[in-house]
Amino acid sequence: MNKLILFLFFFSLISGVSAQFQPIEKESEVPEYKLPDALKTFNGKKIKNTKKWESKRRPELLNFFTQNMYGEVPGTLDISSVELVEKSTTTLNGKAERKQVDLSFKNNGKSLHFTILIYLPFTEGKKPVFLGYNFSGNHTITDDVNVIISEAWAPDYPALGIINNQLTEQSRGARADSWPVEKMIDAGFGLATIYYGEIDPDTDDFSDGVHPLLYVDDQQQPAENEWGAISAWAWGLSRAMDYFETDDNIDETKVIVFGHSRLGKTALWAGASDQRFAAVISNNSGCGGAALSKRRFGETIWRINRSFPYWFCKNFKNYSKNEEKLPVDQHELIALIAPRPVYVASAEEDLWADPKGEFLSAYFATPVYKLYGKDGIDQDEMPEVNHPIQNTVAYHIRTGGHAITTYDWEQYIKWATTFVK
Ligand code: GCU
Repeated sequence: MNKLILFLFFFSLISGVSAQFQPIEKESEVPEYKLPDALKTFNGKKIKNTKKWESKRRPELLNFFTQNMYGEVPGTLDISSVELVEKSTTTLNGKAERKQVDLSFKNNGKSLHFTILIYLPFTEGKKPVFLGYNFSGNHTITDDVNVIISEAWAPDYPALGIINNQLTEQSRGARADSWPVEKMIDAGFGLATIYYGEIDPDTDDFSDGVHPLLYVDDQQQPAENEWGAISAWAWGLSRAMDYFETDDNIDETKVIVFGHSRLGKTALWAGASDQRFAAVISNNSGCGGAALSKRRFGETIWRINRSFPYWFCKNFKNYSKNEEKLPVDQHELIALIAPRPVYVASAEEDLWADPKGEFLSAYFATPVYKLYGKDGIDQDEMPEVNHPIQNTVAYHIRTGGHAITTYDWEQYIKWATTFVK
C-alpha cells in the first residue's frame, strides 16, 4: 500500500513536471492572462493624444524593451569605410541593376565588415527598397552567378554544401523561392539583403561578430542589459540605413524592413528602435517577435531563453516561466512602430509561432495607430486563411507552414505599393 502511494505520488509529480514543459498547442489550454494597455503608462495614466504617447508612453516602453528584452547597444559605431565591390549595369533579364556594397567598422583594434547585395529597378528617381537579412548567404537568394559568396561563419548544413562552417557555390540560388526579386523589381521596388552571420554568427558565442567592437576594458560578453544577437542584427540594419542615406539611387524615406522568423523578430526590433524605417514586415516571427508572450502558446519565453540564450539580453531570463510579471507584451513592440505601416503575417501550420498571438498583437496595437488617425485591425476574430487585412496595420494567415513564400511576397508588394507611391 505504502509503495502504491509512493508510486502515485512520484507519478503525479513527474507528469505534472512534464506537463509544465509541454508546449501549449490548443487554444483551450491558454492560461488566463491580462494584457497591459498600450495607452496606459506604467503609473496608470491614460494616454489620450499622440503628444503624450510620444513624450511619455513611447519612451518608457522603448526603454523597457531595450533594457529587459533585446538589450542596449553600448555605444556608437559608425561606418569607417564604404566600398562598392561590384556593380553591373543590367541584370535580372535586363530589368535591374545590381551592386554589392561593403561596409566596414573598426574599434578596439577589432574590425567587422558586411556586404549589402542591392538590386534596383530602372525607374525614375530614388527607389523604395525592401531591406532584410537572409539566412544562408546573399548568393542563396538568386541564381545570379555574380553574387559574392560570404566568407563569414555559417552553421553546417551539408544538404546546402555548408561544411566546416563555410558557405560554398553549391547553395547558389538555393533559397530563390523565398526571394521573388523580379516581382519586387516589376512593382518598382529595389531589394537590399545581407547575410546576417556577417554581423553576428548565430551561435552562443560573444567573442565573435560585432559585440567585441564595443567591449570596454577586458569585457568578454555583454552585461545584463546589453545587446543580444537580435539587437546586434538590428544594429546592422540601421547601419545599412546609414549607407542608404548616402546613396543617390535609394529613397531612404521608403525603406521597408522585413524578416522571417528570428529575422522577423529582428525586423520588428529594428523598426521599433530606429524610426527611419518607413515600414516593417514580420513574417512568422513568433515568440519574441509579434506573438503575445502571456498566452504561452507554442514557444515560450523560458524555451526561447533556453534554446537561444544569446538572442536576447540576459535580463530577459527574469521572465522565463514568469510571464505574469512582464509589464509589457509584444503588441506594445508593434505599437512602437506607429504610425508607420506594419505587417504581421502568420502561417496556419506554424503553431510554434502562435498565429493567434501574432494576430492579437496587431489587434491590440491598433489603438495607438488610431491616435494617429490610422487604420489597423478592428476585429478581434482572426480573418479566414488567405484573406489578408491590409490597413496601416496589416495581417494575414496563409495556408502552409513556417516559411516566406511567393504568396507572402505578393501580399507585401501589394500593400507596400499603397503607401510608397
Ligand atoms: C526556432 C525558434 C524560433 C525562431 C525560428 C527561426 O524555431 O524557436 O523562435 O523564430 O527558430 O528563426 O526559424
